[in-house]
Amino acid sequence: MRPPPSPRKADRRHLQVSVLIDVDVGLMRAGVASTGQAVALAEHIAGYPSLTLAGVQGYGGHWQHIAGYPTRRDAVRAGMLRLTAVVTALREAGHRVELVTGGGTGTVAADLERDVLTELQPGSYVFKDAQYADALADDADGAFGTSLRVSSQVVSVNAASIVTVDAGLKAFATEGPAPRPAPGRFAGSAYAFFGDEHGAVSRPPGIEVRLGERVELVTPHCDPTVDRYDSYHVVSVTAIIAIDAARASR
Ligand SMILES: Cc1ncc(COP(=O)(O)O)c(C=O)c1O
Repeated sequence: MRPPPSPRKADRRHLQVSVLIDVDVGLMRAGVASTGQAVALAEHIAGYPSLTLAGVQGYGGHWQHIAGYPTRRDAVRAGMLRLTAVVTALREAGHRVELVTGGGTGTVAADLERDVLTELQPGSYVFKDAQYADALADDADGAFGTSLRVSSQVVSVNAASIVTVDAGLKAFATEGPAPRPAPGRFAGSAYAFFGDEHGAVSRPPGIEVRLGERVELVTPHCDPTVDRYDSYHVVSVTAIIAIDAARASR
């Protein structure tokens, strides 16, 4: 991906670029850390004719997987107070703040309760994964189903207690809980990594497992798992969608 032009180059080329001020709402990954820094950055932006301040971003990645809705909601509330303080300070200093963007899959309900954000940024909700399934298990609305699967195949049925499938450490981004069989013949079976290329799936009681049989596995963490593949199969409408941004972040 090409980086955007520097503000000076943009000025020279008479470009117009809308920018956001990233606000650290407690994640500590990036962003201004105080209202003073935000106002100083807004003044800096105002010094470039090519730049327009569109608003602010405050993303709390560290809240997304907090188990239990009340605890997650309280964390969001504290962070949104920080974001609101920045928005207020910018407006008082005469800057327009139209877009207030942030939020992720885990905080959608809490973000909607707060009414601070004008745009939500959830991404994982499209697929969800074992990590989110566990963290949001007690949420009232079930907070989205899991739709992404790695489709593995049984390559050995020789052991009494497990069958071996052809999806191991290389098939998944592995942080988070272990992959788990999706609803179907293997629902309730346990999966354990069995090396780079293999996994062990406990035999479902009373079921004859065939060599070559498919075992669909819910992923530990969906985003970086998607990045390991060149395409995925959308089975309900039978389409294959190329991932244009595959490995683009490296
Ligand atoms: C800035 C920002 N917004 C939104 C998201 C989406 O989060 P999720 O996929 O958990 O919904 C991310 C994820 O890394 C992010 O970094």
